[in-house]
Amino acid sequence: MATEVKPSDLAVGIDFGGSGIKGAVVNTRTGQFMGERIRVRTPQPSVPRDVVAVMDGLVRSLLEPLVGGEGPLTAADAAGLPVGVGIPAATRGGTTLTAANIDSGWIGFQAEREMSLAMSRVVAIGNDADVAGLAELRFGAGRYQRGTIIVLTIGTGMGSAIFADGRLLPNTEFGHVELHGQDAEVRVAESARDRLGLSWKEWAAGFDDYLHLLEKLFWPDLFILGGGASKRSDNYMQYVTVKTPVAIATLKNNAGIVGGALIAIDKRNREAMSGTGESIS
Ligand code: BGC
Repeated sequence: MATEVKPSDLAVGIDFGGSGIKGAVVNTRTGQFMGERIRVRTPQPSVPRDVVAVMDGLVRSLLEPLVGGEGPLTAADAAGLPVGVGIPAATRGGTTLTAANIDSGWIGFQAEREMSLAMSRVVAIGNDADVAGLAELRFGAGRYQRGTIIVLTIGTGMGSAIFADGRLLPNTEFGHVELHGQDAEVRVAESARDRLGLSWKEWAAGFDDYLHLLEKLFWPDLFILGGGASKRSDNYMQYVTVKTPVAIATLKNNAGIVGGALIAIDKRNREAMSGTGESIS
C-alpha cells in the first residue's frame, strides 16, 4: 500500500442523520479521509431495514474506488475494514433504545448485529453525539483539554456528549431536558429555527438559556458546539452569555464520520484481543 497509511488504521465512519447518511473511509491515526466523502438521502420513513440497506450500499461505494488498479487498497484490505455508525438514539450493547427523530422501528433494534450481518464485517454503533464528541476530543476542539467537557451537536435534534478528563459518559440525551416547560430540542435544535420561523437572535436567546441550564447543572470547563449549526456560529455566538468557555467544533459536520471510524477500530481491536469475534460492548 502507498505511503505510510496502514490498512489496519483505516475504518469506515458513517453518520446517520434525519435527512442524510454520510460516510467516508477514515485514517484513524490522523482523522483524515481517504477518498470521497459521500452523502445519500435517509430513506423516508427511516425504517431500520431500509437504512441498513442504504448503509451497505454506501460502504461499497466508498470502498470500490480505493481497490485495485491504482487504488491504495487490496480487495482483502477493503474486506477487512470495520464500520462504525453514529445513530441518533441512545444505544446499549449494540441495540438502539430510543428514536426521537427517526422511525420508531429503531427502538429495541439489534443494530450492530443486523448491520454486521448485512455488511459481513465488524460493525460498531454508538450515539451520534457521543461519537462526534469522541472525534472532537481526539482531533478537534477538545484536543489536549482535560476537565469536564460538554459537546453539543445542533442539528435536526440536539445531541450531547459529556467527558470527564477524556472519558465519555455515554447516552446523556441532554437534548431532552426540560427548558421553558418543554423538551429542550423542540426549541434549541437547528431544525427548530426553521420550524418556528425564528431569527438567529431569537433562536440564540433560547439556546443561551439552554447553555445556562447545563452550566448550572454541570459546571463544565468547556462547551464544544458541533453539528450543522457549527458552520453558522457567526450568526449566534455574539448572543451566548455563559461564563464557561465555548469552542466551535473544528471537525464541523464531519465529526460524526470520524468518530464512527474511531469506535469501529476500537471494537475491531477489542475483538482481536478477546479472540472471540464477538462484541464485548
Ligand atoms: C436524540 C439523540 C441524538 C440527538 C442528535 C436527539 O433527538 O434523542 O439520541 O443524539 O437527537 O441527533
